[in-house]
Amino acid sequence: MSFTNQKNFAHTPTEPRRWALRGDLLDFTAAPGWGDTTAAAVRFDRDHWLLIEDGRIVGRQAQAPDASWARKDHAGQLVLPGFIDTHVHCPQLEVIASYGTELLDWLERYTFPSECAFADPARSRAGAELFLDALLASGTTSAVVFATVHKTSAEALFQGAMTRGMRLITGKVLMDRHAPDGLRDDVTQAERDCVDLIQRFHGQARLSYAVTVRFAPTSTPEQLAMAGALCRSDASLYMQTHVAENRAEVEWVARLFPEARSYLDVYERVGLVHERAVLAHGIWLDDADKRLIAERGAQVAHCPSSNLFLGSGLFDWSGAGFNVSLASDVGGGTSLSLPRNMGDAYKIQALRGQRLTAWTALHAATRGAAEALQLGDEIGGLSVGQAADLCVWDWAQGPVAQARDAAARELHERVFAWMTLADERNLAACYVAGRQRV
Ligand code: GUN
Ligand code: ZN
Repeated sequence: MSFTNQKNFAHTPTEPRRWALRGDLLDFTAAPGWGDTTAAAVRFDRDHWLLIEDGRIVGRQAQAPDASWARKDHAGQLVLPGFIDTHVHCPQLEVIASYGTELLDWLERYTFPSECAFADPARSRAGAELFLDALLASGTTSAVVFATVHKTSAEALFQGAMTRGMRLITGKVLMDRHAPDGLRDDVTQAERDCVDLIQRFHGQARLSYAVTVRFAPTSTPEQLAMAGALCRSDASLYMQTHVAENRAEVEWVARLFPEARSYLDVYERVGLVHERAVLAHGIWLDDADKRLIAERGAQVAHCPSSNLFLGSGLFDWSGAGFNVSLASDVGGGTSLSLPRNMGDAYKIQALRGQRLTAWTALHAATRGAAEALQLGDEIGGLSVGQAADLCVWDWAQGPVAQARDAAARELHERVFAWMTLADERNLAACYVAGRQRV
């Protein structure tokens, strides 16, 4: 079954310029404290209206707007900001749920062979369309995405996101060693491709470029230096990579870069750890690494489903001390649904003897991610002035979830049950910049 069969994609209708949406509005005014279920940072307005004009939120109020506003009535449903998936691989939809390996074998056996096909522009375009529609069908309206090493794969993602009005950060993968034929670039050509993509797409519509180092083992020191120079040439560029995901990977990096103090230090030495850096995983960081990420204002994209599926380890969220956002890491992760990943994140913390509140989880997928990406004015909330990237969710799907929802006595209990039991089937509607996409 294809993802797109699950939802009716209405790429259509020109929404009216001004319209109003009714529902139970939930977003955040600050970061919730770890373990705090009392919700001082939570803004929950039951049965309220959002007023939307030209793709932006222009009002938030209890009373219905006057008759000049077109209306979408989602009374009794949960309205959240569109989710922000801060680490996910477009070309890996076909390797989700691949059996029997940890990271390095998984890359070699499944992932690298599958990514080779994206050399073909038609395959890249089809892959990007499927992927972006699947994100929207999961309630994700913004994402930080890995393409492949092929320039055409990044072009296809940028073009597909522009068509859909999505907030997308992506880039061509840099990889000039320890990868099969057809999946390696070289420093000179890679730099040329990056510069061309930056000139054509960075800052256009709702798109940004991310200098995309796959991970330390697949780039030569020369390529890492080139990536650092690119970041220094323009402070508005993002950087995305993987770090300290798996123990065998960490040992390999130590052998490849004996001069570096740690895996993270390989990136730090070339200037890749900065406030627009998105570092995926970060399970095996030491205390000095953690302090450095906090000092630099970078973020770790926590990928719970992937960490469980690949047996990578249990992320120390409560002891992080730096910005943590939430990510699906498909195809290492087994679901694009961020609620599913929140459920997995809770279980990881439970195995560490910690408890993850619904507030910390939801914040990491909305306002927290937006602020860490320096996009807090645009996405991640339901405030006047922000983009109308909105998802409407059924509180419960099916008799078991409905019974659980009905038994909830207070807001955290209700939202926690929702986050634990919900997935893309709970999504009733998804609006991107005010236009209905699902
Ligand atoms: N490390 C390097 N490449 C990858 C990838 O594609 N997925 C994950 N999970 N880790 C990686
Ligand atoms: Zn990844």
